[in-house]
Amino acid sequence: MQLDPDDERVLAGEMGETRQKMLELLVALGKVFGAERLVPIKSAQVSGASYKTIGKYGLDWLASLDAKAVVPAVLNPIGMARTRWEEMGIDPDFAEKQQAVVAAYERLGIRLDCTCTPYYLYETRFGDHLAWSESSAVSYVNSVIGARTNREGGPSALAAAITGKTACYGLHLDKNRVPQMVIDVHADTSRWTVADYGALGYHAGRLVGNRIPYFRGIQPDMDQLKAIGAAMAATGAVALYHVEGVTPEAQKNHYNVSRLEAVTVEQREISNLFTEIPVDAVALGCPHCSPKELGDIARLLTGKVVSKPLYVFAAQGVIDKNQRVADNIEKSGARVFADTCMVVSPVMEQYHSIMVNSGKAFAYVPNMCGGTARIGTLEDCIRVATE
Ligand code: F3S
Repeated sequence: MQLDPDDERVLAGEMGETRQKMLELLVALGKVFGAERLVPIKSAQVSGASYKTIGKYGLDWLASLDAKAVVPAVLNPIGMARTRWEEMGIDPDFAEKQQAVVAAYERLGIRLDCTCTPYYLYETRFGDHLAWSESSAVSYVNSVIGARTNREGGPSALAAAITGKTACYGLHLDKNRVPQMVIDVHADTSRWTVADYGALGYHAGRLVGNRIPYFRGIQPDMDQLKAIGAAMAATGAVALYHVEGVTPEAQKNHYNVSRLEAVTVEQREISNLFTEIPVDAVALGCPHCSPKELGDIARLLTGKVVSKPLYVFAAQGVIDKNQRVADNIEKSGARVFADTCMVVSPVMEQYHSIMVNSGKAFAYVPNMCGGTARIGTLEDCIRVATE
C-alpha cells in the first residue's frame, strides 16, 4: 500500500500513540480489502455513540485515546436528548454514563451533532470521499448525493476522523459502484408516501442482500429516497442503490442493466406490510426528520392534542433552524427530541407496540426495543396518536 512520508511518520509514532494506532487500523483494513492507497476524506460520521450499544468497555476505550479529529466529524445518535434527558424519563445513572461517552468524543474533537442526517447540517457533494458509519446516512450520501463512503465501523470512522484519511477500496472506487441487479416496481407509485417507500426498502433489502440494486418504475423525492435507503440498509446490507432517471450516478452513467438479474415488486407485497395492530406510542423521524418532514408533522398536528406519546426525532441543527415549527409540534403534546431516536434510546423499551412511518424503524424496533412495530403513513401515525 502506498503511503506518503507524513503517514510513515505517523506510523513510526512521531505524532503520538493514538494517531499511530488509528493509522495502523486503517492500513490493516486497507490491506485486507486490497486498497492501494489512502484517500483524504471531507468528513467523518462516527457510530458507537449510544451507551446502550457500546457499554463500559467502549467508554473505557474512548477515554484511553488522546488525539484530535482533523476533519469535520459528527456523532451518530446517542441514547438520549443531551439537554432534555430528564424530560425523556432517562435513568440518571444511564444519563451520567452517556454524558461521559459524549465528553470522551468531544475531547477527541468530534462535533456533538448526534444525528444520522449530518447531510442536512454540513455540505456534502458529489464525488466527496467520506468515512461515515451509520447505515442510512451511508446509503443516502452514496446514492442520493453521489459522495463515496464504505459503511465504516465506529472505530474505523473515528480513525479516519483523527487521520483525515481512509483506505481507498470498496465504494470509493468507480468499478465497485455499478448496479448488480434490477428491481422493477410494478405499482402505481404516484400517491406513494415516505412510508410506502420505506416499506419498499424494507421488502427490497431482503431481496438484494449486499448487492447494488437499480430500481425502475419509481420517482421518489428526497425524503422518499432517504426512506428507501434506510430500510434497505436495515433488512439488507445495501450501502448504495440507483434509481433510473433519479439518482445522480444513474443519470450520469446511463448504466446498461439489460443482462442483470431482475426481480419484480408488486403493490400487494408493499401493502401487506401495513397492518392495523393496536399501539401504545408513535415515533417519527427515522432517519432524523428533514425540515420538510417537520413542517408536514406540524401541519397535520395543527389544532390537535395527542392521546398517546408521540415522539419526533431530528438533528439539533435542523430543530434550531425550524424552532417555530418544532414549537408548534410540541403544542399538541408531542415531543421533538434531538440527539437520539426510537431505536437507540432505552426510553422506547417501555412500550409494547410502536407505530412508525419508517421501514428502517419497522425493521429495528422489535429487536432493539423489544416491542412490536407497525408501519403506517404519516397521516395515519398522526391520526393514531391523536384519536
Ligand atoms: Fe437514524 Fe435511529 Fe433511524 S440512527 S436511521 S433514527 S434507527
